[in-house]
Amino acid sequence: MTQEYDDDDAMGGPLLIEQLEGNGITNNDIKKLKAAGFNTVESIAYTSKKNLLLVKGISEIKAEKIAGEATKLVPIGFTTASKFHERRSELICLTTGSKQLDTLLGGGIETGSITEVFGEFRTGKSQLCHTLAVTCQLPIDMGGGEGKCLYIDTEGTFRPSRLVSIAQRYGLEPNDCLDNVAYARAYNAEHQLQLLNVASQMMVESRFSLLIVDSIMSLYRTDYSGRGELSARQMHVAQYMRTLQRLADEFGIAVVITNQVVAQVDGSASMYNPDPKKPIGGNIVAHSSTTRLSFKKARGEQRICKIYDSPCLPESECVFAIYEDGIGDPKVEDDDD
Ligand SMILES: Nc1ncnc2c1ncn2[C@@H]1O[C@H](COP(=O)(O)OP(=O)(O)OP(=O)(O)O)[C@@H](O)[C@H]1O
Ligand SMILES: [Mg+2]
Repeated sequence: MTQEYDDDDAMGGPLLIEQLEGNGITNNDIKKLKAAGFNTVESIAYTSKKNLLLVKGISEIKAEKIAGEATKLVPIGFTTASKFHERRSELICLTTGSKQLDTLLGGGIETGSITEVFGEFRTGKSQLCHTLAVTCQLPIDMGGGEGKCLYIDTEGTFRPSRLVSIAQRYGLEPNDCLDNVAYARAYNAEHQLQLLNVASQMMVESRFSLLIVDSIMSLYRTDYSGRGELSARQMHVAQYMRTLQRLADEFGIAVVITNQVVAQVDGSASMYNPDPKKPIGGNIVAHSSTTRLSFKKARGEQRICKIYDSPCLPESECVFAIYEDGIGDPKVEDDDD
């Protein structure tokens, strides 16, 4: 099985921004757009004109022209529900390694959107990230996305040795598998955002199917710790989430972010839930994640995943387990006490 992916494979993929050249758009204009982080025609089609005007050296007339040409190539108007349905049925889902979890999620982690996984420490958030970093490379008929993984680590908990064990489970050559994971440690909130710009350039050059941010809020908590900094923090988080969504739209990748939880202090404790915990990041992270999953500890290696919010899945839950070779289904003998 080959693990190198070309850009021009049958799956389509983003249109390079160079395609806009001509019709009054010069090579120099393309250079200016690229310097501002626009690498694909999609990125232009999905952005607002206000953002195009922020690009150095792009006049109002030019912005109009560029946006017009982009939307000729990338339609952004209405479509019929049946066409949309057809497109959605072709959506690729990445396997989590657990059949039960995949079933709960309607096939796995959806590409083209943001999935947030939150829960207390040791609930398996990072373990799921490690498993997905491998499964996203598998062929589509094995539950993969036939692409590379980009892994942004803000907590320093990425362990390549975990990938080796998981690769062996799926019969992938461990060294190839490691080569297909682009890893970056983010050191502060600003850096975490800068890395997304680099990510977009890398995604133009080769096929990626997954972007992981483990975890989304930890650097914001340290970089913006004062009460007075909350609104500045939330503005930055909003920009970060918008950029993630743009990458998901532009490149059709799955975006998986993890999040910590904190005790809820708004008096929502009750007899049924005496110790309520909620993910951090407020409404901004909540509203920009398409699917939100809550992880909880259970007995031994078992964990519970609950669908907390989804546009099309009911609020239900399932049990999975963490093993040396990644996320899997609970073993049958674990079930009898
Ligand atoms: N090689 C392994 N084999 C089996 N289980 C493992 C292995 N490595 C880690 N685990 C289990 O995974 C759990 C840790 O999960 P993980 O690191 O994903 O937590 P997390 O949700 O990311 O926590 P945090 O919020 O601290 O980042 C531990 O309970 C540990 O026992
Ligand atoms: Mg972790």
